[in-house]
Amino acid sequence: MTPATSPVASIEELNIAGRRVFVRVDFNVPLEAGTITDDSRILAAIPTIRHALSEGARVVLASHAGRPKGKRVPELSLEPIGARLAERMEVEVLLTEDCLSEAAGKVVADLRDGQVALLENLRFHPEEENDDEGFARELAKLCDVYVNDAFGAAHRAHASVSALPRLVPERGIGLLMGQELTALDRLRQGAPRPFVAVLGGAKVSDKIGVMTALLEQVDALLIGGAMANTFLAAQGLPMGSSLVEEDKLPLARTLLQRAAERKVKLLLPVDLVVADGVDAPVGQVVTTSEVGTDDMALDIGPETLKVYREVILGAGALFWNGPMGLFERPAFAQGSLGIAAAGAECSGFTVVGGGDSVAAVNRGGVAERYDHVSTGGGASLEYLEGKELPGIEAVRP
Ligand code: 3PG
Repeated sequence: MTPATSPVASIEELNIAGRRVFVRVDFNVPLEAGTITDDSRILAAIPTIRHALSEGARVVLASHAGRPKGKRVPELSLEPIGARLAERMEVEVLLTEDCLSEAAGKVVADLRDGQVALLENLRFHPEEENDDEGFARELAKLCDVYVNDAFGAAHRAHASVSALPRLVPERGIGLLMGQELTALDRLRQGAPRPFVAVLGGAKVSDKIGVMTALLEQVDALLIGGAMANTFLAAQGLPMGSSLVEEDKLPLARTLLQRAAERKVKLLLPVDLVVADGVDAPVGQVVTTSEVGTDDMALDIGPETLKVYREVILGAGALFWNGPMGLFERPAFAQGSLGIAAAGAECSGFTVVGGGDSVAAVNRGGVAERYDHVSTGGGASLEYLEGKELPGIEAVRP
């Protein structure tokens, strides 16, 4: 019997010349009124596609976009995504009107070596998210070889990620997936010390698993974003009208206690940028003991940034996920931009993942200075947490 941990094959090891290679990509890019506002995920998939084309494969790309809940939602069509890919690669990309084999069959059957087809949004069918075997069987008719390059979706046990590859004996991962796993494995398996993690975002509840796991691995854990409010409130500090998860206060205390037992430096903000609401044009800096009844904490303050920056600069390895405040508002973006800059200056091994933190790194113009910018938010958290990702398990030989 093949052990569960047998290594996955890279696309470079697969025989793909002249064959239909189904590449599951994560083209779930931010779309505003049909316009792509960030095409990093499209760009990140190009090396795999180019490799397949240079080997003479017939490339069948498939992705989800958004959460159409099993219905055809025209605004979530992959059409603009296919157009952007064609423009970036300077190749023709044939979009099928549906992802199912009947509609897609002709386009795929007519593909010549070195041509690219893109199947319409997989999530227009409810069977995709249900990991439906029958749906996977239909998709399997479109491929000779299966390649998963969708790291961002590897934590989803969906049909194109989980059921489908099990039906295709020749399977493996793409170049992007390979890079993602190599970078995160370096953190999972003996990260250079000190290992510093920076976690932000709105809710402690979204990060319980990864925080619990990271507390056993890191030397320092720096917390920002609204989730810091819950920790501050757990220590008895007044949080005014800030977002606090009351039901997570006991959990926050347990995590603080575990950090103390393990001698992990768990840092919380010492000052905050507060305002009377999310629409305020500017905020005011207060210490964490000065938060007024009507104050809402919307970013970490400059003193906190100074402390966090020092810890980050001394890191042997850094992992950052989650914004330090309401990053989409310029008045509350300084904390996240400051962390982005500190990470860029860190001489250790640096990894950033998650929509807003990656956006901060891009907006700060420092992405190139990170060792790895992950295309997966939830996936990178689950992988670091030590969980098995369905998308990886399903492509093992
Ligand atoms: C992501 O953007 O995190 C991935 O594409 C997965 O999307 P989902 O959270 O809608 O499953």
